[in-house]
Amino acid sequence: MSRGCFITVEGVEGVGKSTQIEALVERLRIHGLEVELTREPGGTEVGEAIRTLLLSPEYPPMHADTELLLMFAARAEHIQRRILPALEQGRWVVCDRFTDASYAYQGGGRGMPLERIAQLEQWVQGDFRPDATLLLDAPPEVGLARARARGPQDRFEQEAVAFFERVRAVYLQRAAAEPERFRVIDAARPLEAVRAEVCAVADALLEQCRA
Ligand code: TMP
Repeated sequence: MSRGCFITVEGVEGVGKSTQIEALVERLRIHGLEVELTREPGGTEVGEAIRTLLLSPEYPPMHADTELLLMFAARAEHIQRRILPALEQGRWVVCDRFTDASYAYQGGGRGMPLERIAQLEQWVQGDFRPDATLLLDAPPEVGLARARARGPQDRFEQEAVAFFERVRAVYLQRAAAEPERFRVIDAARPLEAVRAEVCAVADALLEQCRA
């Protein structure tokens, strides 16, 4: 049995990530693939408990080191207990955010040194990296207004627009540095246009990963 593909989806808040992930998973399943959908931080029982710690505005602000370490603690659990076993059993895994988000939010947003994140990435993941990453890109003001209209804000949604400008900049830098892994999708367009491109990317990934 061949190993499954690991696909991650990234973007600042409110770019329509959840809708487009659904479209991506549906498209892959139409091709007969067994696809597991998961998210970070989270994806396991322990990871989801860590997610609550990380996102709930009810806790006092945490040190940036604590935030980064908790992201990677949840990720270690997720990789070892869920992602790798699924891939080894031949299932494809689509993950709503992964380590690029640590570079973008903790590195870009919070200003933590990128080398420190790279050290944790190496420790927790070894050589394990996504096979492909879809970056839904849009100016943060648009997405933030959408995210804030949805209801109570989590700890990240409460950040200022400048924070998300830095997040977006790091995402785009990473995409430029690894063009073979990233597919940058302009998410400022109408949902249907974005969806059509996501489906086209899914078809191309199928060709590529099955080759
Ligand atoms: P979301 O999955 O609902 O978009 O929210 C998760 C939040 O966590 C989002 O604001 C991005 C943030 N995050 C980080 O700051 N670092 C990370 O490594 C990950 C995976 C998420």
